[in-house]
Amino acid sequence: MTMIDIIAGARPNFMKIAPIIHAMEARRAAGGPLRHRLVHTGQHYDARMSGDFFEQLGIPLPDVNLEVGSGTQAEQTAAIMVRYEKLLLQAPSALCLVVGDVTSTMACAITAQKMKIRVAHVEAGIRSGDWSMPEEINRMTTDAVSNWFFTTSAFANDTLRRSGVADERIFFVGNTMIDTLLANMERLRPPVFWNDLALEPGGYFVLTLHRPSNVDGSTHLERLLTALGEGTRGVPIIFSVHPRTRKTLRALSSLPSNLYFVDPQPYLEFNHLVRHAKAVITDSGGITEETSVMGVPCMTLRDSTERPETVSVGTNEILGTDPAAVRAALDRLFTHGWKKGGIPEKWDGRTGERIVAVLEGLLA
Ligand code: UD1
Repeated sequence: MTMIDIIAGARPNFMKIAPIIHAMEARRAAGGPLRHRLVHTGQHYDARMSGDFFEQLGIPLPDVNLEVGSGTQAEQTAAIMVRYEKLLLQAPSALCLVVGDVTSTMACAITAQKMKIRVAHVEAGIRSGDWSMPEEINRMTTDAVSNWFFTTSAFANDTLRRSGVADERIFFVGNTMIDTLLANMERLRPPVFWNDLALEPGGYFVLTLHRPSNVDGSTHLERLLTALGEGTRGVPIIFSVHPRTRKTLRALSSLPSNLYFVDPQPYLEFNHLVRHAKAVITDSGGITEETSVMGVPCMTLRDSTERPETVSVGTNEILGTDPAAVRAALDRLFTHGWKKGGIPEKWDGRTGERIVAVLEGLLA
């Protein structure tokens, strides 16, 4: 029996681990050789940022919760490393499997590799080139200490090869986040405020903003929201507000009248909103993958993306963060509509199974 750790810490991790865990459980039931221990670092701890996702996505309760909670990046990294090291000293595993690019991903990857435990990174090799994003540092560091790389795109494969990773360590398996989306498409359901706000398919925008570059300065955020208010021509904007963003919003004096603030939504409700939106305006990376698969227009308020296939194949466009560019894109949407887009290679709902099959080959 070979034990692997599956690490999750923050909201965007949970939809990525769900299909891997389900595939592990299915193989185990069929007599497969691998066992797993689910380690939650506790980076996100609210029901809205964490517990709701476990419940909705049928993820079993974590076997271990490191309960690190909030803090600066360094505080969180340090706390995760100290606590995960203790766990590995008491009960080592044969592999540490990390997903995505959050602080928990990097901290556990470093800790495991230093203890001579092999590391596999799911969503390896993606790069924005923007070192001002903590996620970019997390990606580079995690890949630097990983043994095996599970990738979502040919772009990621090329990046890894160029950095000297041998072909036999790269596994182009597709996108686990899309496994979760496809598995739950029929279960998506409207949020409680759907009727209260008289929302209709195609009759509202979805907005999410949480990057420090967009939400940590009140002047910039106010200019951006004003431009959105003007550009959306009175169509309601549903703004799912991340805890980080809420702090800055309190300092703003004027807000557009068609902007509706809602708490972070659970998975099924959020993706229902996205699926039926006129367009999604966001600074998230993961959401641009989901809009691409659902064929929903997506405007990214960042200067770069680590997921270029959402632009070249999908429905995403990188607008930057200049309010005038946002206005212009909205005008274009209203007058000409938006590109239809297609679905990137291997984003087919089978990625979790592929990952577990590869792991069996490598470890068993
Ligand atoms: C983290 C990830 C980011 C991801 C985002 C999604 C890193 C570096 N960033 O950023 O990639 O897109 O999650 O949400 O890992 N807070 C709560 N409740 C919680 C968790 C956090 O209120 O359950 C508060 C914290 O106190 C803090 C703020 O939210 O003030 C930010 O949380 P933090 O974990 O530092 O990073 P995120 O900005 O959420």
